[in-house]
Amino acid sequence: MGDSSVNVCVVGLGYIGLPTASLLACSGYQVHGVDVDELAVANINQGKIRIDEPDLDSFVWSAVNRGTLTASTQPVLADIFILCVPTPFHGSEVASEPPRPNIDYVLAAATSIAPYVLPGNMVILESTSPVGTTHVVAKILLECGVDIESISVAYCPERVLPGKIMTELVQNDRIVGGINAESTVRIKAFYETFIKGAVYGTDCKTAEMAKLVENSYRDVNIAFANELSMICAESGIDVWNLIDLANRHPRVKILQPGAGVGGHCIAVDPWFIVDQSVALARLIRTAREVNDSKPTWVAKQIQNEAAKFEASYGRTPVVACLGLTFKPDIGDLRESPSWSIVEELLEKGFDIRAVEPNVAAHPQIRLTPLLEAVAEADIVAVLVRHKQFRELNLSSKVVLDYCGLTRA
Ligand SMILES: NC(=O)c1ccc[n+]([C@@H]2O[C@H](COP(=O)([O-])OP(=O)(O)OC[C@H]3O[C@@H](n4cnc5c(N)ncnc54)[C@H](O)[C@@H]3O)[C@@H](O)[C@H]2O)c1
Repeated sequence: MGDSSVNVCVVGLGYIGLPTASLLACSGYQVHGVDVDELAVANINQGKIRIDEPDLDSFVWSAVNRGTLTASTQPVLADIFILCVPTPFHGSEVASEPPRPNIDYVLAAATSIAPYVLPGNMVILESTSPVGTTHVVAKILLECGVDIESISVAYCPERVLPGKIMTELVQNDRIVGGINAESTVRIKAFYETFIKGAVYGTDCKTAEMAKLVENSYRDVNIAFANELSMICAESGIDVWNLIDLANRHPRVKILQPGAGVGGHCIAVDPWFIVDQSVALARLIRTAREVNDSKPTWVAKQIQNEAAKFEASYGRTPVVACLGLTFKPDIGDLRESPSWSIVEELLEKGFDIRAVEPNVAAHPQIRLTPLLEAVAEADIVAVLVRHKQFRELNLSSKVVLDYCGLTRA
């Protein structure tokens, strides 16, 4: 349980910062959240949220009503500062060059808290970051006049699953990597006051790399399944059956293929390793390229099937595309491969019914209710394995299943 006399300032109130701030505020700490987005701040101060995440609304509502969570666009004096700002990548100008990490938001956030950081404070970076960023944060604070010897600075990566953030924030194990041993010990002790998982101490470079490695591990293994799915389609082999049989080997555990890899983590973080080790990170880079190529491959398959239909029936088929989010059973469209497949088909003039039961409406793509889309469709392309699709009767349709829904 937290100490109500301890003030925490959380900078960046998005998918990670707001759950963290509201959890701390419901765990006994006095929390002030900071975001450059004035509308997000105004909403939070009224106890409202714009992020689609189970239970987050009740945490925020309860913390704001208790007076333990406030928000503004400027930092305040605090005992503990937590940075949860975005770390996207810069798109590469040369197609053959990998994208480069963009830590501008981290630099801006560190600069913004510097005037408020006093001796004895703790500064924690939670944003997924290239190796060395925690030392860069410490350097910025030093250059802004903070007595760096008198404070603790550490990196503590977040590894929550969207859709289960409020549970996993508490239950998951965490890694804390300080810029020195004292920082690790103090900041590890802070996390142990509000999480139930184990907290492991290390140095900041190892902690930064651990986060990048976790997502790269997932990416490489998904790429293996995605590559297999494309090879099998070429050879006329059912990839789902193949994986099921291969996994009967006691030491083989192949993951399931999908329409690609999306979201702001697995599709981004491996590039941070590639950027820092271009010559050595060959497998990690290739995996990224395989996963990034999958949506275009899927779109091409749908086009081929549509051409076959047209040749047989003399008219263009209606294609229902089921699922637009980047993974099952959430409403998050960020970097979604299925979204890019639907966009590509729409651009090419296909007659599409886009279905996304987890999103109410969207200004860019008109959404069609599930049963209406299936009733009108000649071809049904299953792009995301949402639970709402499980009971569908697709027996009279041409079904292109890219996520194993019909094999589950
Ligand atoms: N979303 C996830 O599931 C997840 C999981 C693990 C790690 N992460 C990492 O956590 C970090 C944050 O991700 P997110 O998903 O919460 O991002 P997000 O885009 O949802 O939220 C970031 C927030 O920071 C605000 N912001 C930007 N610059 C700011 C500044 N200088 N001062 C104050 N606020 C500022 C933005 O307005 C936004 O509200 C990223 O590094 C991400 O890679 C995310």
